[in-house]
Amino acid sequence: MGYKVVVAGATGNVGREMLNILAEREFPVDEITALASRKSLGTEVSFGDKTLKCKDLDTFDFTGWDIALFAIGSDATKIYAPRAAVAGCVVIDNSSLYRYDSDVPLIVPEVNADAIFGYAKKNIIANPNCSTAQMVVALKPLHDRATIKRVVVSTYQSVSGAGKEGMDELWDQTKAVYNPVQEVPPKKFQKQIAFNVIPQIDVFLDSGETKEEWKMVAETKKILDPKIKVTATCVRVPVFVGHSEAINIEFEDFLDWQEAQDILREAPGIMLIDKREPGGYITPIECVGEYATYVSRVRQDSTIDNGLTLWCVSDNLRKGAALNAVQIAELLGSRVLKKG
Ligand SMILES: NC(=O)c1ccc[n+]([C@@H]2O[C@H](COP(=O)([O-])OP(=O)(O)OC[C@H]3O[C@@H](n4cnc5c(N)ncnc54)[C@H](OP(=O)(O)O)[C@@H]3O)[C@@H](O)[C@H]2O)c1
Repeated sequence: MGYKVVVAGATGNVGREMLNILAEREFPVDEITALASRKSLGTEVSFGDKTLKCKDLDTFDFTGWDIALFAIGSDATKIYAPRAAVAGCVVIDNSSLYRYDSDVPLIVPEVNADAIFGYAKKNIIANPNCSTAQMVVALKPLHDRATIKRVVVSTYQSVSGAGKEGMDELWDQTKAVYNPVQEVPPKKFQKQIAFNVIPQIDVFLDSGETKEEWKMVAETKKILDPKIKVTATCVRVPVFVGHSEAINIEFEDFLDWQEAQDILREAPGIMLIDKREPGGYITPIECVGEYATYVSRVRQDSTIDNGLTLWCVSDNLRKGAALNAVQIAELLGSRVLKKG
């Protein structure tokens, strides 16, 4: 016997990947339903070699369904996640709405799988921000060995992190640069994204940080260790899929770069690609459609006693969202629900 699974936001970037990954990983599904807004009623989405017709989330009854994977943004999640949870369906949510709620576990299975048992307080589990998810996968095995004190991270985040409208804006603006008759002013992003980089993701806070930067700090503490200090600069770049991060780490104990490479090579979820030669590293275009969090350019930071710098790249729609959510569903199945 398998699970009755709902994917809410099935027409979106993340929802479509959720359906792909559930099929690819042969998640034990007895029945599956794709939901989106009313305007997408009847829209066809793929699930393996099957085609599903989207239903309206607003009129859907979650009674009798086991797991709902949500990728619909915070505003809609606020309305529909409690509805599903009260009906006894466990929600695995991709929005930021519940990530900082102390009654909701925030999980990256390679890092804090045991937090799964906290799901029962609200019947909701939160999936982290895409840039946090890949970073904590890379930090965890190094933290276990040498205890991380401080992290300085700069991100290079793809436009798919801003949903399908973000991808359309980069595409349309790029074409318009070659055909200036069709001007495409910024709409989803604050400035032109084609042939440019933008040092703002999400809104500004009073501290001068953006909300995306704050999320990386708060989520790293909740998932990995509240004692770790993090400072982030989050930048949108004209890449369709794949987030990259330059990460500088200060440890309590000395960690040699070669030992760090060995640790990362063995760590779950990580693929080390690190040859000190031209092209001996990963770039975002090469990680699209992959499960791994890739690490390259591991090197000593000689400006501090115990420091390393590295480069980390992952498919933000996969490890940063849909894959992590499906891994949480697998964890929930194997440790708690135990069907299938
Ligand atoms: N993209 C990433 O890298 C990433 C990473 C981590 C987390 N997330 C989070 O995942 C969520 C989805 O992101 P996305 O990139 O997939 O966005 P997207 O491509 O814009 O898709 C949004 C999806 O939500 C549905 N939706 C929106 N409002 C709805 C409503 N009121 N009722 C029912 N369905 C509604 C849309 O349905 P219609 O097509 O019918 O409008 C669509 O299926 C967001 O919370 C985002 O922050 C995204």
